[in-house]
Amino acid sequence: VDATLQVEDQKRAAAEAAARLVDDGMRVGLGTGSTVGFLLPALAARGLGRIRCVATSQRTEAKARELGLPVEPFEALDRLDIAIDGADQIDPNGWLVKGGGAAHTREKIVAKAAERFVVIASSDKEVERIGAPIPLELLRFGLAATRSAIGEVELRDVPTSPDGGVIADYTGTVGDPAELSARLSTTPGVVEHGLFPPELVTDVLVGSRKRSPLS
Ligand code: 5RP
Repeated sequence: VDATLQVEDQKRAAAEAAARLVDDGMRVGLGTGSTVGFLLPALAARGLGRIRCVATSQRTEAKARELGLPVEPFEALDRLDIAIDGADQIDPNGWLVKGGGAAHTREKIVAKAAERFVVIASSDKEVERIGAPIPLELLRFGLAATRSAIGEVELRDVPTSPDGGVIADYTGTVGDPAELSARLSTTPGVVEHGLFPPELVTDVLVGSRKRSPLS
């Protein structure tokens, strides 16, 4: 079986399972990425007329609106019932790396505001140990000083975030994700980083590997 097809099937399966967790009337946080790309039509197909959505990126917002999902700015809502998003890495303790799509700052705010944060992914996202790159959003002011305080940082060749931040990656040793997370969070100039702690995560839905038929 084509490996890419398998990965796509797994993403779709996880996304469709997550769409079934949404009830009418819920306030829903929509993540960013190709797995969320399967979530949006699955959610729209449920025809829930009273859900209220917030989006973690302009890409998601545009696609959601196209499908008829109601998206509102995330300024007045203080709580969400559920947020559903993808991940780049998932370790056995539930630590995540997010931000492959440069949306991790908004994604973390949305995840934190949600009663239930559901991660959807294909099985290739499961790792034994979290490793670099760890996505960063940095303030442009003091950029060289912030880079030098962090150590190994590569700037990404992408536009700034919708909030004006410079997108980069920490490329050094990760070691204990809790220690690195604390270090990055306390470095002035770091708007946000892509390490998400297990306490933030309620459910992880991973599309299972297709087993080859026994012969
Ligand atoms: C975007 C993210 C995505 O959720 C993450 O990169 C996974 O993407 P995909 O579903 O395309 O594998 O964190 O900032």
